[in-house]
Parts: sequence; structure tokens; C-alpha cells
Amino acid sequence: MPIVNRIADFHKDLTAWRHELHAHPETAFEEKRTSEFVAKRLQEFGIEVHRGLAGTGVVGTLRGNAPGPRAIALRADMDALHIHEQNGVDYASQNAGRMHACGHDGHTTMLLGAARYLAETRNFAGTVHFVFQPAEENEGGGRVMVEDGLFEKFPVEAVFGMHNWPGMQAGKFALRAGPMMASFDIFEIIVTGKGTHAALPHLGIDPVVAAAQIATGLQTITSRSLAPLDSAVVSVTQIHGGDTWNVIPDEVVLRGTTRSFKPELQDAIEAGIRRVAEGVATAMGASVKIRYERRYPATVNTAAEAETAATTASEVVGEGNVDRDLTPTMGSEDFAFMLQAKPGAYVFIGNGKNGAGLHNAHYDFNDEILPVGASYWARLVERVLAKRA
Ligand code: NI
Repeated sequence: MPIVNRIADFHKDLTAWRHELHAHPETAFEEKRTSEFVAKRLQEFGIEVHRGLAGTGVVGTLRGNAPGPRAIALRADMDALHIHEQNGVDYASQNAGRMHACGHDGHTTMLLGAARYLAETRNFAGTVHFVFQPAEENEGGGRVMVEDGLFEKFPVEAVFGMHNWPGMQAGKFALRAGPMMASFDIFEIIVTGKGTHAALPHLGIDPVVAAAQIATGLQTITSRSLAPLDSAVVSVTQIHGGDTWNVIPDEVVLRGTTRSFKPELQDAIEAGIRRVAEGVATAMGASVKIRYERRYPATVNTAAEAETAATTASEVVGEGNVDRDLTPTMGSEDFAFMLQAKPGAYVFIGNGKNGAGLHNAHYDFNDEILPVGASYWARLVERVLAKRA
């Protein structure tokens, strides 16, 4: 059974909603207009609306036309990025410096589409909660929702998420059981030496040379301290220090990010960064101050829910269009916090082979996949919360 006909019928509305959201992007925890838009649509569909979780979060609760104790949650993210849009479309961002460059406008719309259809049909037993979360990018709105009691207020047996994936054919689905996206941590190393005239280096301690050796040394963590079959990334992404040609500065700051799929690797990487940075600095007579911050855990699908998600996707787009054994990505996703709290599955939906990548100023969500994603959500609810024959 392909795309839900009734959802295809209101493809135009979905496109209009998506464009409305796209034109008014809002970033982490400031999704006021977006939140208002979502709540209004849900109310129009006759869905019970709860607001205020994680500030701008919205949860819509819908009961099927048959009773049942079971409940699941479907989650979409609502936030945009600090990017200045370069697209010339007539629905381009009206908020300078802010842009829906990760397709969360599309995610929100697909879940609204499913909510509209399910509110009309209610052909399931039990309860579905539509979870619209703020601040997926950087700030962990998913974590805040869980901490604010999302699953105490809305108890569910499983939670499901979806993200568009540029480079993958439009409407294809991909996922895997187990780790699908990496954990994401950040670190900062302040290297302190002793500033001096560049012509008289022996009178000071050069933090530039120490920082350079630390940056290189950090690459030995993944290559020499972790098991070769364990995947991990340690990237130094910033080096700041010095102001002019002929002065050795007092201080250099290194910053970067790390990725892996297991908590014990996060521990090993943090320990490695401390060991290398402190050891190299000491060897050079400099000192370091290190900050290591855990941001998002790995996104790990549970086997049963991944199977259900894959079967549902193949019902909508055909088995040949569902990759059940996706290679995990080192990107990360704060849906991970919901998957730490509940069983569930996260899937990618193809955004099309051409077009810009995520977080690019030329990126745009592909409106053609709106009814595909909405149909996946709708069928997932009807499958998991199926009425007894
Ligand atoms: Ni995203």
C-alpha cells in the first residue's frame, strides 16, 4: 500500500505550511511563532494540545476510535539554524541570519500532516502523542523535554523520530537496528605559556608550538589508543592565539568535537585528550586548562522498533526502497535522549539525490516527500496501535 490517498489529497496544504514555516525560521528555544503555528493546526484538527514543555515544546494527544492501554510518541523538531539563506525562492527566510537549513520545517509539516489524517480517521486503538520539540541543534531541546517530564506526563511504550537525508533518493527510507548516529562531545584546551618577543623565544614559553603539538598529538587518540574496530572521531576545529607578527602570545585556545558510538569510548577519548594535552604541555614547560563537555549520546535504535519502522516504511514505499542496514553516520541528533528513555527507532527519509546538504545556505527541504513522510507516520500509528480484528 503506497502513500495514503487522503494525505496526497492535501499535499497542497502541506506545502503551504512548510513554506510558511520556512519563511519564519526561529532558533533554539525561541520557536514562539512556530510553536503557535503547530498548536493552532493541532487544535483545528481537534487534537488535545499541551504547551510549555522545554518552553516552546508542543505535544498533541490523540486517542483512537477504539480503546486501548497502549501509547506511542512521534517526534519532530522545529528549530532553525544561524545561517543566512542563499535561496531565491519566494518563501525564503524573512529572518536575516536564520534559516531552516536542516529541514525541520519539513519534519514539523510531515508530523502535522499525519496528525490531520489520524484525527480524521482515528483508525487505531490507544493513544498517540505528537511531540514537537525545540532546539534540536546544539542546545539539546530533546534532553530538556525528557527532563521536563515528557514521558511522565505522556507515558508511552516507544518513541519514533525521522530526519530527511540529502543525497538519498527522494522518498527512500534508511535505518538500522543499534547505533545509527554518533555521540557528540565538545572540548576546549587553553594552553598557557609565557609571552615574549618573537626574536627572543628563550625568554618565554611558546604556547603556539605547544598547541600545534597538542593538535597533532590528539590524532593519536583514535589511531593508537582506541581499538581499530571502534569508530571514533577527534577533530580540532579552532585554534586561536596571537595578534601580530613579532610577539609570542601568553595563550592559545584549541577547540573541537569528538564522536563515537559507545559511552566507554567517550570516557576513553576524554581521558586521552587530558593525557595528551597535559603531557605535551608539561614537556614544553607550558600548562593547560581543559574543558570536556558531553553533549548528545549516540542515537541507538532498539531492534524490535527498528523492525516495525522498516516494515512500515516498506508498506509505504516498497521493500526495495528501504535500506534496513544503513551504515551509521558520525553526525549526531538529540533524539538520542528520547531513545535513552524509551525504546524506539529513528529513520532517514531521502530528500533527493541533487540539492545542497544539511546546514548549507542553499539547502531546501523537498516538498515532494511531505506526503511520503506523513504517510509513514500515519501507517506507523495504525500498525503499532492496530485494532483487534
Ligand atoms: Ni536536523
